Amino acid sequence: MKHWRIEDVDWDSFDPAGVDPDAVAIVKAAAMVERNGTDYAIYLKNVFRDDPDFCQAADTWAVEEVQHGDALGRWAMLADPGWDFAAAFARYRAGYQVPLEADASVRGSRTGELIARCMVETGTSSYYTALAEATSEPVLRQVCRLIAADEYRHFKLFYDHMRRYLGRERIGVLTRLRIAAGRVTESEDDELAYAFHCGNEPPDLAYQHSRCIAAYMGRAMGVYRFRHIERGMGMTFKAVGLTPRGRLSGVAARLAWWLLQRRQRRFASRQRSCLASPAPTGIRHHGLFSRPT
Ligand SMILES: [Fe+2]
Ligand SMILES: [Fe+2]
Repeated sequence: MKHWRIEDVDWDSFDPAGVDPDAVAIVKAAAMVERNGTDYAIYLKNVFRDDPDFCQAADTWAVEEVQHGDALGRWAMLADPGWDFAAAFARYRAGYQVPLEADASVRGSRTGELIARCMVETGTSSYYTALAEATSEPVLRQVCRLIAADEYRHFKLFYDHMRRYLGRERIGVLTRLRIAAGRVTESEDDELAYAFHCGNEPPDLAYQHSRCIAAYMGRAMGVYRFRHIERGMGMTFKAVGLTPRGRLSGVAARLAWWLLQRRQRRFASRQRSCLASPAPTGIRHHGLFSRPT
């Protein structure tokens, strides 16, 4: 059962004066990635096919992720009444696919799969918390708070299942750390970049990963404050089996904050140079590409 419904959001309190165009751009991209949650559930149910408890949890999880996409998409259409979420999502689906036909996790073990899922939920929980605090638009703030609470529950869900599998598979801390770090770097792959392209760029502009990931990350990384990274690092440490609020976690959070700020500045400067010299139009992206889930 869902913890909230789209109708629970106070859509009438929408305030156009609080809309930041940069927030609209990143919300459009996030809406599509979230809306695509059903495919991830199919993949997860293939990986965990003999685990009915987990498969049932994956179905409920996907319903919530899809609702995140619908709520963010609805807000983006309020903020930009000319934007068509359904059309943008159809374009995204036509060009981007999660590989579904898996017999085993692309992470090498079920524990590894669940650690990767914990990392995604750590990222989304931190991101929507940061976005809620960064915006002055009341509906976006409410939607992001509702989503952030779901994402934290998702983290706990995958963490509990991960602990269960860890007892059988006994994956070492270093392997768990490698999987977690690997999943973080994948956030700069095509999934979000292509969603940014489909949500924000005209169909006659060719997709280009470097331009689109800079456009997304330059904006998205700017919403974080140190407290969000600190909390996210605590969740990461918990997921890999290290002390969540110890000295090491504090040092790692400060290092991650420094790296994030540096990366954000690089993406923002690339974004500015792309605006100064726009990519050629007239070439469409036709290829279907995918990423490890
Ligand atoms: Fe979500
Ligand atoms: Fe989630």
